[in-house]
Amino acid sequence: MAFVEAGDPAELADAVRTAFAEAYGGAPTAVGRAPGRVNLIGEHTDYNRGLVLPVSLPHATYAAAAPRVDGRIRIGSLEQADPWTGSVDDLAPGTVDGWAAYAAGVLWAMREDGYDVPGVDLLVHGTVPLGAGLSSSAALECSVALAACGVLGVDPDAAVRRRLAAACIRAETEMAGAPTGGMDQTVSLLASAGSALLIDFDVAAGRDGAARDVALGLDPAGLALLVTDTRVSHALVDGRYAARRADCEAAAAALGVPSLRQASLAAVEGLENDRVRRRARHIVTEIDRVRDTVAALDEGDWQAIGSAFRDSHVSMRDDFEISCPELDVAVTTAVEAGAVGARMTGGGFGGSSIALVPVERLEAVARAIDAAFVAAGFGAPQHLRAVPSAAADLVDAAEV
Ligand code: GLA
Repeated sequence: MAFVEAGDPAELADAVRTAFAEAYGGAPTAVGRAPGRVNLIGEHTDYNRGLVLPVSLPHATYAAAAPRVDGRIRIGSLEQADPWTGSVDDLAPGTVDGWAAYAAGVLWAMREDGYDVPGVDLLVHGTVPLGAGLSSSAALECSVALAACGVLGVDPDAAVRRRLAAACIRAETEMAGAPTGGMDQTVSLLASAGSALLIDFDVAAGRDGAARDVALGLDPAGLALLVTDTRVSHALVDGRYAARRADCEAAAAALGVPSLRQASLAAVEGLENDRVRRRARHIVTEIDRVRDTVAALDEGDWQAIGSAFRDSHVSMRDDFEISCPELDVAVTTAVEAGAVGARMTGGGFGGSSIALVPVERLEAVARAIDAAFVAAGFGAPQHLRAVPSAAADLVDAAEV
């Protein structure tokens, strides 16, 4: 049974400092740390101006940075091949390919927002599994944003974090070309340890990105969050995510509303196109399930949360059609092995499931999923325990 450990923050920060010195021949002036995330519930609702309820993972990306006087940029990673070099003045959408676009895109978007970002050397290293639906890209973006703050001497206070979230979202959508919503960057920059973050993207009501902590109380309830990475490759730039988004926009246009946040279930049921109707039904019912989950958390009603998880998975499998056989097996097996509830999480088409399990069943549930994968002829999955963790920060500043 493979569990991915988050690693010791001080050791990871030291490792990235050492690697930076080896790569570039000097010490970094700042290290930013930013977590990946797992979404409890509220999938594909962010770009539909709805509600989401993610938590930050203890697994994070560390970005070491130092300014340069010549305007050059060098970006490297201990986890990725193909370092990138360029010039800060040439940064623009379309100029950087591959994984480095997420990092370079943040520098570009922060400059667009008025920050005087100089040339920099950047090196990143972390433990967020890549392509697993756990927001390794947001962790990369937000760690670079924090490192850039460190280089600039900017205190990442609440107002700055809002600006950084917007810049990281622009990096992903405009520079990397992934038409995602704003959940991942927002939770990475604003989460609190021990809580989920309820984020409301209702632009029409002036609440875009408004967020509040929702206490989880997992420990007193004897529960834990088990995340299973199916290892089925997951890419949000391959067109299927964009196709879902286009269907949602078509549904809103057909209903004459600015977004599906404003649509009622009754109106959605009247849509003519079967596929568009099912896509919209997932969004409208999923937003309600986020509300139900928050209410159930307030009351400590874990059974209600379990059934919201189940309904959410069925809705994503049948109406939104973003699940896959591996995710379905992980979810079904988790519940059979004692989980209170389980669902696929993240963008879909592979990636991870999340299960709410009695803490003493954590390993037994993981083992049952491993066995079910062997029986089904799937490749081995890997697991991690999602302990709700703190938001991104400057490592050095946090240690003082
Ligand atoms: C990805 C995107 C998010 C969100 C989820 C699905 O993680 O980056 O913006 O849309 O998929 O909920």
